[in-house]
Amino acid sequence: MEIPVQVRRIGASTVFPIGLGTMNLTHAYGRPPPPEQARLVLHRTLEVGVTHFDCAALYGFGRSEELLGEILKPFRSRIHLASKCGVTGVDGKRVIDGRPATLLRTLDDSLRRLGTEVIDLAGQKAGYLALQLKAFRSQTRGDPDAIGYMWGMASELDDATIDALAAYYSAQKAEPSATGHSAATGPGKGIYEQGVASEGVPACSTCHGPAALGTEDFPRLAGQHAQYVLKQLGSFQSNMRNVAIMHGVAQNLRRAEMQSVAAYLASLP
Ligand code: HEC
Repeated sequence: MEIPVQVRRIGASTVFPIGLGTMNLTHAYGRPPPPEQARLVLHRTLEVGVTHFDCAALYGFGRSEELLGEILKPFRSRIHLASKCGVTGVDGKRVIDGRPATLLRTLDDSLRRLGTEVIDLAGQKAGYLALQLKAFRSQTRGDPDAIGYMWGMASELDDATIDALAAYYSAQKAEPSATGHSAATGPGKGIYEQGVASEGVPACSTCHGPAALGTEDFPRLAGQHAQYVLKQLGSFQSNMRNVAIMHGVAQNLRRAEMQSVAAYLASLP
């Protein structure tokens, strides 16, 4: 029996509801497949009807785009090709740089690697650090410590310096956590992984990641000082640190729950 597929619209295109992410064709999850196997995967994906392919300049520092460009070129007119900029590889390091001139240059590089004239979807993800520094500078982040320490500190930073700082700090390796590991199995783990259904608190892991390592959009929480996490949750709850997403998350959290999730996060490597 044929099951009807509900297609999706992205801009002017109509695509199959499942797309293929291509990061692991060149790096990330263990050893990447050899190119001939990547070719088989991409061809099979086309065969089963997938038309949306997602890539990024960062994946394999351009190698995923090259591979996709080469293998999918004959099918270009019937596929939807997405890529991302704003985070790229420079001299073997991951660099966040969302300045307009850099975006134009890296997008041109992406088009060349993908062997196409247009990317159907390009998303820039500004780094969390840069966002925060800008929020301090514009005095929109209003928790007491932000006002007390960071508004003044950030007031003189220009965008290029903010980007450079964000790139620098995001490239630093996190120190292994110093806290004991008893909290790692306590009630905080349950809150982090499942939320508190009866109070409408969502699972933290859906945004901050299963191991709390964060993404470009969501800050890393693993190994963070418990006192800091507790303070931030309080500030989100009272809306002094005024971020709608986290206010929604924290509004119904009780103090004891905040404490246990903070202890859990501090215990993570
Ligand atoms: C729907 C997505 C989402 C969920 C679910 C979520 N968060 Fe967040 N969280 C965010 C975003 C976005 C930010 C960045 C806020 C900003 O821009 O200031 C954030 C920021 C934070 C921060 C501040 C980090 C820092 O470095 O200052 C803490 C602490 C935090 N979240 C804890 C939690 C906890 C604990 C949970 C679960 C109870 C949770 N979050 C669930 C999206 C989420």
